[in-house]
Amino acid sequence: MLATWIFFASLKLNGLKHSKAGQDTDECVMPGLCGNHAQCFNTNGSYYCRCNEGFQPTTFNFTATTRQCQDINECLEKTHDCLDNMECINIIGSYNCMCPNGYRPSRTDSGCEDINECSDPDVCGTNADCSNHPGGYICTCHKGYSNYGNNQSKCTKMVHFCLANE
Ligand SMILES: *[C@@H]1O[C@H](CO)[C@@H](O)[C@H](O)[C@H]1NC(C)=O
Ligand SMILES: *[C@@H]1O[C@H](CO)[C@@H](O)[C@H](O)[C@H]1NC(C)=O
Ligand SMILES: *[C@@H]1O[C@H](CO)[C@@H](O)[C@H](O)[C@H]1NC(C)=O
Repeated sequence: MLATWIFFASLKLNGLKHSKAGQDTDECVMPGLCGNHAQCFNTNGSYYCRCNEGFQPTTFNFTATTRQCQDINECLEKTHDCLDNMECINIIGSYNCMCPNGYRPSRTDSGCEDINECSDPDVCGTNADCSNHPGGYICTCHKGYSNYGNNQSKCTKMVHFCLANE
Protein backbone atom coordinates (compact mmCIF):
# COMPACT_ATOMS: atom_id res chain seq x y z
CA MET A 1 0.00 0.00 0.00
CA LEU A 2 1.43 3.34 -0.98
CA ALA A 3 -0.03 6.26 0.92
CA THR A 4 -0.83 9.40 -0.96
CA TRP A 5 -0.22 12.54 1.02
CA ILE A 6 -1.84 15.84 0.38
CA PHE A 7 -0.76 19.06 1.89
CA PHE A 8 -2.18 22.48 1.41
CA ALA A 9 -0.28 25.60 0.73
CA SER A 10 -0.40 28.09 3.55
CA LEU A 11 1.62 30.57 1.60
CA LYS A 12 -0.29 33.53 0.28
CA LEU A 13 1.16 34.72 -2.97
CA ASN A 14 0.27 38.38 -2.56
CA GLY A 15 -0.06 40.19 -5.83
CA LEU A 16 -0.01 36.89 -7.75
CA LYS A 17 -3.34 35.62 -6.48
CA HIS A 18 -5.68 37.57 -8.67
CA SER A 19 -4.53 39.44 -11.71
CA LYS A 20 -7.98 40.93 -12.21
CA ALA A 21 -10.90 41.05 -9.84
CA GLY A 22 -12.44 37.60 -9.69
CA GLN A 23 -9.93 36.06 -12.07
CA ASP A 24 -7.74 33.27 -10.73
CA THR A 25 -4.01 33.12 -11.44
CA ASP A 26 -2.48 29.68 -11.93
CA GLU A 27 0.29 29.55 -9.29
CA CYS A 28 1.33 26.14 -10.60
CA VAL A 29 3.04 27.72 -13.60
CA MET A 30 5.80 28.79 -11.16
CA PRO A 31 8.55 26.21 -11.61
CA GLY A 32 9.47 24.21 -8.51
CA LEU A 33 6.63 25.60 -6.42
CA CYS A 34 5.88 22.20 -4.88
CA GLY A 35 9.46 20.89 -4.92
CA ASN A 36 10.57 17.56 -6.33
CA HIS A 37 8.34 14.47 -6.29
CA ALA A 38 5.10 16.48 -6.07
CA GLN A 39 2.36 17.75 -8.32
CA CYS A 40 0.83 21.20 -8.10
CA PHE A 41 -2.94 21.67 -8.28
CA ASN A 42 -4.40 25.09 -8.94
CA THR A 43 -7.57 26.20 -7.15
CA ASN A 44 -9.52 29.40 -7.34
CA GLY A 45 -7.37 31.94 -5.47
CA SER A 46 -4.84 29.38 -4.24
CA TYR A 47 -3.24 26.02 -4.96
CA TYR A 48 -2.19 22.83 -3.23
CA CYS A 49 0.64 20.32 -3.57
CA ARG A 50 0.28 16.57 -3.52
CA CYS A 51 3.19 14.19 -3.07
CA ASN A 52 3.65 11.59 -5.81
CA GLU A 53 2.91 7.97 -4.93
CA GLY A 54 5.66 6.59 -2.70
CA PHE A 55 6.49 10.01 -1.20
CA GLN A 56 5.36 11.95 1.87
CA PRO A 57 5.91 15.53 3.10
CA THR A 58 9.20 16.09 4.97
CA THR A 59 7.57 18.37 7.49
CA PHE A 60 4.06 18.66 8.80
CA ASN A 61 4.20 22.42 9.09
CA PHE A 62 5.95 23.75 6.09
CA THR A 63 7.08 26.97 4.50
CA ALA A 64 7.87 27.78 0.91
CA THR A 65 11.54 26.84 1.41
CA THR A 66 11.13 23.59 3.37
CA ARG A 67 8.11 22.29 1.54
CA GLN A 68 9.03 19.16 -0.35
CA CYS A 69 8.23 15.49 -0.64
CA GLN A 70 10.58 12.73 0.48
CA ASP A 71 10.69 9.04 -0.28
CA ILE A 72 8.63 6.72 1.91
CA ASN A 73 10.81 3.79 3.06
CA GLU A 74 8.17 1.07 2.69
CA CYS A 75 10.67 -1.50 4.02
CA LEU A 76 11.19 0.32 7.34
CA GLU A 77 7.55 1.33 7.69
CA LYS A 78 6.46 -2.24 6.92
CA THR A 79 3.93 -1.13 4.31
CA HIS A 80 5.53 -3.37 1.66
CA ASP A 81 3.94 -6.60 0.47
CA CYS A 82 7.08 -8.73 0.13
CA LEU A 83 6.53 -12.30 1.25
CA ASP A 84 8.08 -13.38 4.57
CA ASN A 85 11.07 -15.13 2.99
CA MET A 86 11.90 -12.21 0.71
CA GLU A 87 14.08 -9.18 1.34
CA CYS A 88 12.55 -5.73 0.92
CA ILE A 89 14.87 -3.27 -0.84
CA ASN A 90 13.77 0.35 -0.70
CA ILE A 91 14.16 2.41 -3.89
CA ILE A 92 13.21 6.06 -4.45
CA GLY A 93 9.43 6.22 -4.85
CA SER A 94 8.91 2.49 -4.43
CA TYR A 95 10.56 -0.79 -3.30
CA ASN A 96 11.62 -4.18 -4.64
CA CYS A 97 11.17 -7.67 -3.19
CA MET A 98 14.36 -9.71 -3.63
CA CYS A 99 15.54 -13.18 -2.73
CA PRO A 100 18.47 -13.32 -0.29
CA ASN A 101 21.82 -14.78 -1.43
CA GLY A 102 21.57 -18.52 -1.96
CA TYR A 103 17.84 -18.32 -2.81
CA ARG A 104 15.95 -17.77 -6.05
CA PRO A 105 12.33 -16.89 -6.88
CA SER A 106 10.28 -20.04 -6.60
CA ARG A 107 8.40 -21.32 -9.62
CA THR A 108 5.24 -21.62 -7.52
CA ASP A 109 5.07 -17.88 -6.70
CA SER A 110 5.59 -18.63 -3.01
CA GLY A 111 8.51 -16.22 -2.65
CA CYS A 112 12.01 -17.65 -2.58
CA GLU A 113 13.39 -21.17 -2.55
CA ASP A 114 16.82 -22.51 -1.64
CA ILE A 115 19.30 -22.99 -4.48
CA ASN A 116 20.85 -26.47 -4.33
CA GLU A 117 24.39 -25.43 -5.24
CA CYS A 118 25.54 -29.06 -4.99
CA SER A 119 23.54 -29.98 -8.09
CA ASP A 120 26.45 -28.39 -9.96
CA PRO A 121 29.33 -30.88 -9.44
CA ASP A 122 31.82 -28.13 -10.25
CA VAL A 123 30.92 -26.14 -7.11
CA CYS A 124 33.10 -28.22 -4.77
CA GLY A 125 35.03 -30.12 -7.43
CA THR A 126 36.13 -33.76 -7.30
CA ASN A 127 38.25 -33.53 -4.13
CA ALA A 128 35.36 -32.81 -1.74
CA ASP A 129 31.83 -33.78 -0.73
CA CYS A 130 29.25 -31.05 -1.26
CA SER A 131 26.45 -30.60 1.28
CA ASN A 132 23.62 -28.21 0.58
CA HIS A 133 22.02 -26.18 3.37
CA PRO A 134 19.45 -23.34 3.37
CA GLY A 135 21.05 -20.34 1.72
CA GLY A 136 24.41 -22.01 1.18
CA TYR A 137 26.58 -25.13 0.92
CA ILE A 138 29.74 -26.60 2.39
CA CYS A 139 32.59 -28.39 0.66
CA THR A 140 34.08 -31.04 2.94
CA CYS A 141 37.51 -31.98 1.64
CA HIS A 142 38.57 -35.55 1.11
CA LYS A 143 41.49 -36.83 3.20
CA GLY A 144 44.75 -35.19 2.19
CA TYR A 145 43.02 -32.15 0.68
CA SER A 146 42.15 -28.77 2.15
CA ASN A 147 40.32 -25.57 1.26
CA TYR A 148 42.25 -23.73 3.96
CA GLY A 149 39.36 -22.40 6.04
CA ASN A 150 37.15 -21.37 3.12
CA ASN A 151 34.53 -24.13 3.26
CA GLN A 152 32.88 -22.90 0.05
CA SER A 153 35.94 -23.27 -2.13
CA LYS A 154 37.47 -26.24 -3.93
CA CYS A 155 40.03 -28.38 -2.17
CA THR A 156 43.64 -28.76 -3.21
CA LYS A 157 46.23 -31.33 -2.18
CA MET A 158 47.58 -30.38 1.22
CA VAL A 159 51.11 -29.01 1.18
CA HIS A 160 53.38 -30.15 3.98
CA PHE A 161 55.40 -27.26 5.28
CA CYS A 162 58.68 -28.44 6.83
CA LEU A 163 59.75 -26.59 9.94
CA ALA A 164 63.42 -25.80 10.43
CA ASN A 165 63.77 -28.22 13.34
CA GLU A 166 61.92 -31.11 11.67
C1 LIG B 1 -12.92 32.72 -7.71
O1 LIG B 1 -13.05 33.39 -6.46
C2 LIG B 1 -13.43 34.76 -6.62
C3 LIG B 1 -13.32 35.44 -5.26
O2 LIG B 1 -13.88 34.64 -4.24
C4 LIG B 1 -14.81 34.84 -7.23
O3 LIG B 1 -15.21 36.20 -7.40
C5 LIG B 1 -14.77 34.17 -8.60
O4 LIG B 1 -16.07 34.13 -9.17
C6 LIG B 1 -14.23 32.75 -8.49
N1 LIG B 1 -13.99 32.23 -9.82
C7 LIG B 1 -14.41 31.01 -10.19
C8 LIG B 1 -14.07 30.61 -11.58
O5 LIG B 1 -15.06 30.26 -9.45
C1 LIG C 1 2.51 22.79 13.68
O1 LIG C 1 2.25 24.12 14.08
C2 LIG C 1 1.28 24.25 15.12
C3 LIG C 1 1.01 25.73 15.35
O2 LIG C 1 2.20 26.47 15.48
C4 LIG C 1 1.83 23.54 16.37
O3 LIG C 1 0.91 23.61 17.43
C5 LIG C 1 2.10 22.08 16.03
O4 LIG C 1 2.69 21.43 17.15
C6 LIG C 1 3.03 21.96 14.82
N1 LIG C 1 3.14 20.58 14.45
C7 LIG C 1 4.31 19.99 14.13
C8 LIG C 1 4.25 18.54 13.78
O5 LIG C 1 5.37 20.59 14.10
C1 LIG D 1 31.94 -22.55 7.08
O1 LIG D 1 32.55 -21.26 7.02
C2 LIG D 1 31.77 -20.23 7.60
C3 LIG D 1 32.46 -18.89 7.35
O2 LIG D 1 33.83 -18.98 7.64
C4 LIG D 1 31.58 -20.54 9.10
O3 LIG D 1 30.79 -19.54 9.69
C5 LIG D 1 30.90 -21.89 9.25
O4 LIG D 1 30.80 -22.25 10.62
C6 LIG D 1 31.66 -22.99 8.49
N1 LIG D 1 30.88 -24.21 8.55
C7 LIG D 1 31.42 -25.41 8.82
C8 LIG D 1 30.48 -26.56 8.89
O5 LIG D 1 32.63 -25.56 9.01
